[in-house]
Amino acid sequence: MINLNVALGQRSYPILIGSGLLHRQGVLDTFINGRDVLIVTNDHLAMLYLEPLQKLITGSRIEKIILPDGEASKTPDTLMTIFDALVEYRYARDCVLLALGGGVVGDICGFAAASWQRGVDFIQVPTTLLAQVDSSVGGKTAVNHPGGKNLIGAFHQPLCVLSDTDTLYTLPDRELSAGLAEVVKYGLLGDAELFEWLEREHAGLLKRDAERLQHIVRRSCEIKAQVVAADEQERGQRALLNLGHTFGHAIERCAGYGEWLHGEAIAAGMCMAAAFSARIGWLDAADVERIKVLFIRLNLPVEPPQIDPGKFLAAMSLDKKVMAGEIRLVLLRSIGDAAVTADYPSHELVDLLSEQFIH
Ligand code: NAD
Ligand code: GLY
Repeated sequence: MINLNVALGQRSYPILIGSGLLHRQGVLDTFINGRDVLIVTNDHLAMLYLEPLQKLITGSRIEKIILPDGEASKTPDTLMTIFDALVEYRYARDCVLLALGGGVVGDICGFAAASWQRGVDFIQVPTTLLAQVDSSVGGKTAVNHPGGKNLIGAFHQPLCVLSDTDTLYTLPDRELSAGLAEVVKYGLLGDAELFEWLEREHAGLLKRDAERLQHIVRRSCEIKAQVVAADEQERGQRALLNLGHTFGHAIERCAGYGEWLHGEAIAAGMCMAAAFSARIGWLDAADVERIKVLFIRLNLPVEPPQIDPGKFLAAMSLDKKVMAGEIRLVLLRSIGDAAVTADYPSHELVDLLSEQFIH
């Protein structure tokens, strides 16, 4: 079992990664310690993994709440059903919430834990690649508002993250590729070696070779843990983790939420960020091509759908990184070196949208 640490002083926690962890008796005992547990999951994952997870927890009262599958359930109304369950079961401040699922379940369960009785403990058991390499680590929790994604949320770190990489064998291909987009992101923003490794090993990864899957979950979590430890609440460096997101969120918003998976949108978004970086003289054109080729090999889109450039720009200006009306972008100086900036000629962005991408 790989055991990484997210170093956050008193809020530090381990990320446990390995094959068969959902069957490793006792692995969660020290974190739960006999306390009341509420498992939060969805109907699909309940069929797949609820039984082994329940068997893993001994000496505790276990209740569960099974949410409808999908991003559409990441709402304040669904959150209220979790609170209703906690009231019904008379769970007190010493209870532990346990998120079994992808980023949707993890984000909503984490926010329930952040706000129930002003904050209780929670554990992440991520089951998608995206959740294992990104959303389960770092304590961002949220639900959506009709006005935008993740607008209602809190920073609330888990007690531990338990990533059983065997759960990735039941993941649909499209979801696997969406998770791989986040792995490419880590290579682009800070680890050229990881990017080169992905260029070499993409075929084995898509075949879900166990060692390769564990390698990318481990390396991604190491990078994310380091960034989060340095900047827990995104005052600076953590914004780098948003590479491709300003363009990607605009794609998700303009295409209609649910049409594009988040990872697909940020893959195309990273290609746009790379093209823009080259346009303002930061990045070599050859590297833009390398990035596109890798995404194509991972079965990910490299261009946005057809969208009116004005609408696209308006959607970009809703990004959470906007400051004083300026769209701050994460751009690339090279593969493995990214920076956040609003210091670019704004007409270049308008030109990029109208000329190069939006036909
Ligand atoms: P998801 O949670 O909707 O899961 C995708 C689909 O895969 C769902 O249908 C789910 O039921 C299914 N699934 C999950 N695990 C499975 C398994 N092992 N086998 C078979 N099917 C499985 O989507 P996601 O991509 O995991 O997460 C996306 C969400 O994460 C978004 O809401 C996004 O905003 C959020 N997110 C949060 C952060 C963060 O830092 N908190 C970071 C990135 C994304
Ligand atoms: N997924 C971006 C972050 O956790 O900051």
